[in-house]
Amino acid sequence: MGLTRRAFVLGFLLIFFCLSKVIAEAQMNIINEIQINSWNINACSWDQIMGDDGSIFQLEIVDQALCKLLPCIDRRLILEIACGNGFLSRRFAKEGAFVYALDSSAKFIEIAKERTSSELSNRIRYIIGDATNANTYNQIDQKFDVVICNMAFMDISDLISVFQGVKKLLKPEGMFIVTQTHPCFEKAVGPLFHEIDEEDGLMIHKVGVKVSNYLEPRSFNVKAVPTLNSDHMFFHRSLSHIFNIAFKEGFIINGFEEVAFSKNSTFSEHKGWHLLQDIPVVAGIRFKIDVPN
Ligand SMILES: C[S@@+](CC[C@H](N)C(=O)[O-])C[C@H]1O[C@@H](n2cnc3c(N)ncnc32)[C@H](O)[C@@H]1O
Repeated sequence: MGLTRRAFVLGFLLIFFCLSKVIAEAQMNIINEIQINSWNINACSWDQIMGDDGSIFQLEIVDQALCKLLPCIDRRLILEIACGNGFLSRRFAKEGAFVYALDSSAKFIEIAKERTSSELSNRIRYIIGDATNANTYNQIDQKFDVVICNMAFMDISDLISVFQGVKKLLKPEGMFIVTQTHPCFEKAVGPLFHEIDEEDGLMIHKVGVKVSNYLEPRSFNVKAVPTLNSDHMFFHRSLSHIFNIAFKEGFIINGFEEVAFSKNSTFSEHKGWHLLQDIPVVAGIRFKIDVPN
């Protein structure tokens, strides 16, 4: 191949590479705008569900994972990513922590501030910011003991940027705790089933999940709860997909919890999930920055 031709091909490839990067970024910006808009619309109805202290689902299920993954937070500095109405940040502040609470929805931040009492307001700093944007992290001039993202990982479009941002803001011994719908069994992977079998003349009820779409990451529109006013985007990712992003960005995992509904759950309705007592509905993961020996 002649020199001119080689230069032409290289130039073409470079333009192609730059263009595809620009297009990917533009696509991501559009997705984030749609997501912000959806959560601004949903903020009031989500706030009704979460209230001051968290929903029954949070208290019965998600908190079991948090309880095992979280250290003592008294006087610790915590960053909550995608804080919603801020119930968790307020809980941390009541327990003695200093909290930065971040969400991309201005409406949620407004609601969170309204729900914050004057005693807690000097312990919580609310920030409107996109967790997928490096500038959000660059503007925060603190290093945190704990960064947490509670039941929102599957709502965030780009986890690479999140891990990169969190890595910049974590203290060396800090931890990044994530809870989310369990990706192996969530609605995205397949429908629930309820079968009636017969064994020795007895009717046996079997309830489970028909997993048929697990490995391939994908996004679609859902309502996390039926009472929301607008659909929002949901990002399904397999465990290995999430873990490998974390590993590539220099994290290790040193805690993993899976929580299912218990037999004596007071929760009567969660799209049938409360019937599954041996299938986890929530996964909690604790990441730390890998420090090579
Ligand atoms: C299901 S709600 C969970 C809120 C809260 N963590 C809770 O447990 O109630 C999902 C939250 O993720 C937020 N969110 C989605 N994408 C985001 C992003 N890129 N940056 C910051 N927050 C985001 C939404 O605004 C919304 O508050």
